Amino acid sequence: MVTTANRLSRNATPLSKNQHLLNWVDKMAALTKPAEIHWVDGSQEEYDALRQEMVDSGTLTRLNEKLWPGCFYARSDASDVARVEDRTFICSLSKDAAGPTNNWVNPYEMRKKLKGLFDGAMRGRTMYVLPYSMGPVGSPFSQIGVQLTDSPYAVVNMRIMARIGQAVFDVIDKDVKRVVPCMHTVGKPLTPGEADVTWPCNQEKYIVHFPESREIWSYGSGYGGNALLGKKCFALRIASNIARDEGWMAEHMLILGVENPQGEKTYVAAAFPSACGKTNFAMLIPPAGFEGWKVWTVGDDIAWIKPDAEGRLRAINPEAGFFGVAPGTSVQTNPNAMATLSRNTIFTNVALTPEGGVWWEGMTDTPPAECTDWQGKRWTPEIGKQTGAKAAHPNARFTAPASQCPTIDPAWEDPAGVPISAIIFGGRRATTMPLVYQAFNWSAGVYTGATMGSEMTAAAAGTIGKVRRDPMAMLPFCGYHMGDYFRHWIKMQRSLSETPRIFHVNWFRKDENGKFMWPGFSENMRVLKWIVDRAHGRALGRETPIGWMPRYEDFEWNGLAFPKETFDALQEFDRAAWRNEVLGHEEMFIALQDHLPKEMVYERQLLICRL
Ligand code: GTP
Ligand code: SPV
Ligand code: MN
Repeated sequence: MVTTANRLSRNATPLSKNQHLLNWVDKMAALTKPAEIHWVDGSQEEYDALRQEMVDSGTLTRLNEKLWPGCFYARSDASDVARVEDRTFICSLSKDAAGPTNNWVNPYEMRKKLKGLFDGAMRGRTMYVLPYSMGPVGSPFSQIGVQLTDSPYAVVNMRIMARIGQAVFDVIDKDVKRVVPCMHTVGKPLTPGEADVTWPCNQEKYIVHFPESREIWSYGSGYGGNALLGKKCFALRIASNIARDEGWMAEHMLILGVENPQGEKTYVAAAFPSACGKTNFAMLIPPAGFEGWKVWTVGDDIAWIKPDAEGRLRAINPEAGFFGVAPGTSVQTNPNAMATLSRNTIFTNVALTPEGGVWWEGMTDTPPAECTDWQGKRWTPEIGKQTGAKAAHPNARFTAPASQCPTIDPAWEDPAGVPISAIIFGGRRATTMPLVYQAFNWSAGVYTGATMGSEMTAAAAGTIGKVRRDPMAMLPFCGYHMGDYFRHWIKMQRSLSETPRIFHVNWFRKDENGKFMWPGFSENMRVLKWIVDRAHGRALGRETPIGWMPRYEDFEWNGLAFPKETFDALQEFDRAAWRNEVLGHEEMFIALQDHLPKEMVYERQLLICRL
């Protein structure tokens, strides 16, 4: 056990009696050699003290209390701004179990490598013992992790994103439930007397998952999904493995509830890749013409979905906060997000205004006359115009409590989850993909999700704009072989008395001038209404080779003058483009072939025949 001077703000005394946990913490402290250990109780006093310490050290800036009550600002290192997919590893016992879409390293080799990297990695720092529950504490859906981290930034963000602290230790102490051990270091030990930097990290990064032993080891980054280990690492990569073994689904999906004027409520889940509109869709406000309709938010990024005793799919949002993309978020595009992030929020890599406020591209029509950009440099609209420099990084984010969302669903923390009537897939596609269509049935729907494509965004390092196949928006997040994942989806039908209807949407189709053809945002309600009506068997459509499509007259147009010609262009099914599209499907299928379920092969054949 590490013994050091116990600062007032440090909880050095273990907050759990679980011998397993105590032994592991000792062992990891012996490996990483922190100066101090802090057991996170999750209290307000602890939270205040941690944030104050980070203000004192320069990692956080307290925003103007009048403008942004309870809000803080962080600026990351310029090299640590997004998830690093090429440094993300699934170290299953066999390479085949990870599949061709994941980076794999022999787990014995990787453990050796990590042991070297973590040896002394926390020198001069505090190791936080951070217990967290994904899902409401005590829900049968919930899973527990303990993250050992030397990043207080990760701790305060996790306090918003998950349920943390003493209540979780209590569950660990009384339950036999398995705990997922999560190791995290920014990889920048301090020598005695060495001054710290405001955003410590390491140029070398490893985001490693051991699916069989359900472990996470993250080295070198303090940013987002690399560091808040409950999110993508646990709730998707590890949870997808648990879900496959236990017969449920861990998905990169938002969950929302649509309430019509008669009070009927219908829940849908939607998978869009990173930075493709989940947060916006989850917080949709119905447009003019939809008086009496309401959209309720359950989650904006991750859904855990299980069949209930009646054979219906029910879903929970395992998170407690939103880690949302800031640029493009405004009172016009997403007033609910703006209200949610107006207080008690941590902003990362946005711009700082002279009044102690924040700003990002798209927040207001007129930028501030002057601000400090995400790299700490002076920025003016003129400088932006001349150099192309953005005030906020395109992947700048806000971390905000879900409970502050004005449309948070009354059932969002229901331990039993909400019933799912429809599943929606969607990507960012300038061409080919219509605004909306419905797959013919479950297996055609699984095929639609499995072959999803999307143009790459700033949410991960890579070539922005290039179309890549991103099955179910899970390419960076599926913790095992993608072919087996498709099989798991196909097999889920056997546990269901009624399958949700499956749809595909695309808000991002462009015209010949490169302009979005669909206004999007609030107006997506028109698409959502058709989807809900189809799910209840109340709306018509026409059959096309790719699925059911709405005709112009099947949409509610009240409140929007949208020409039929534009709608037809938006819904256009282009046979030649689709022939090309299925070639793209084949490319991915070849890579997965020996694990591909037969249904995928037959669905592709059927589609080709219809084309
Ligand atoms: P992650 O948090 O990375 O998983 O992203 P997300 O899927 O939640 O995406 P988000 O809702 O944050 O949207 C990302 C970007 O897409 C923002 O710049 C939005 O302004 C833009 N966007 C969202 N919805 C629409 C839409 O309906 N139309 C258009 N044109 N843009 C949209
Ligand atoms: C995503 O990239 O899909 C995100 C952000 O939601 S992160 O938490 O960094 O994964
Ligand atoms: Mn996401």
